[in-house]
Amino acid sequence: MTIPVVTLNNGVTMPQLGFGTWRVGRDAVAEALRTGYRCIDTAEMYRNETDVAAALAGSGLERAEVFVTTKVWNDHHGHRATLEAFHASRRRLGLDVVDLYLVHWPSASDSVNVDTWRALESLHADGLVRAIGVSNFSPAQLDVLLDACDVVPAVNQIELHPARPRLEERAYHERHGIATQAWAPLARAAVLTHPVVTAVAAAHGRTPAQVVLRWHLQHGVIAIPRSASPERIRENFAVADFSLTPQDMAALDSLGGRTAP
Ligand SMILES: NC(=O)c1ccc[n+]([C@@H]2O[C@H](COP(=O)([O-])OP(=O)(O)OC[C@H]3O[C@@H](n4cnc5c(N)ncnc54)[C@H](OP(=O)(O)O)[C@@H]3O)[C@@H](O)[C@H]2O)c1
Repeated sequence: MTIPVVTLNNGVTMPQLGFGTWRVGRDAVAEALRTGYRCIDTAEMYRNETDVAAALAGSGLERAEVFVTTKVWNDHHGHRATLEAFHASRRRLGLDVVDLYLVHWPSASDSVNVDTWRALESLHADGLVRAIGVSNFSPAQLDVLLDACDVVPAVNQIELHPARPRLEERAYHERHGIATQAWAPLARAAVLTHPVVTAVAAAHGRTPAQVVLRWHLQHGVIAIPRSASPERIRENFAVADFSLTPQDMAALDSLGGRTAP
C-alpha cells in the first residue's frame, strides 16, 4: 500500500496518512508500524512517548523510515519552558532529531505564542527538529506568528472531518504554504454512520472509515486516525487503492453544510 507524501514548506516530506496515538499505547503503535504506517503522532500530554519509543525500537525499522511528531503542552508555553519540554520529549522518544514539533494549543496571549514559536525556531535552526508547526491555531493567531517571526509554520493540526471541514482555515493555510493536518479525522467515529458516508462506502465496497480517510487524502489533508483495534488499524491504512469520484467528494463535502473549495 503506497501512501502519498506531502512536501512541507521547507522541503521535508511526510506521509499523508499517519497514526494518532491519543489514549493508545505500545501495542497499538507496534501494530500500526507492522501494518505499514510510517508517521506517528504523539504529544507530551498523551504520556505515551515512551510507548512510542518502545514500539519503534521493537519494529526493526530504520530511524529514517518513520516520521515522528510530538507537541509541547500548554503548561510549557514560553521560550525556556518550551526548550525544556522539547528535550524531555526527545529523551522519552529516544530520538536525536524529532521530525515535526508542534505547539499543541495556542496561548491566549499573542506575545506568549511568539515566545514559544521563537523556541521552536531555535530548535529548527539547531537541527533538532526537521520541521516545526502549530496545532489549533486560528488564522488570526497564525497572522501574529507570520508578522513577528521568521519561519512560517509547516503544519497546522486542527480538528477536521466531513462534518467540520474548516474551509476558511484550509484556504488560509493554502495561501501561506501551511500544510493542513486533521485531528479526529473520523470525527471519533461520529460521521461513520451518516447516510451519505454509508452510501458512498457501499457504492465502492469500502468501509465508512476508508471513505472518510479518502476524502481527506483527496483534499490534500494529512490525516492521523487512531484506533486501538488491530483490525481497524489495518482497515484505516487500506485506502491507497481506490478513489472517490468528484460526485462522491461533493456529497461528503455537503456534510459540512457548504461546498468545499
Ligand atoms: N492536536 C490536538 O489538539 C489533537 C486533539 C485530538 C487528537 N489529536 C490527534 O489526532 C489523532 C486522531 O484523533 P482522535 O483519536 O481524537 O479521533 P479519530 O481518529 O477521528 O477517531 C478515533 C475513534 O474512532 C474509532 N475508530 C477508528 N477507526 C475506526 C474504524 N475504522 N471504524 C470505526 N471506528 C473507528 C476508534 O475506536 P477504536 O479504538 O475502538 O477503533 C476511536 O474511538 C489522535 O489520536 C491524536 O494523535 C490531536
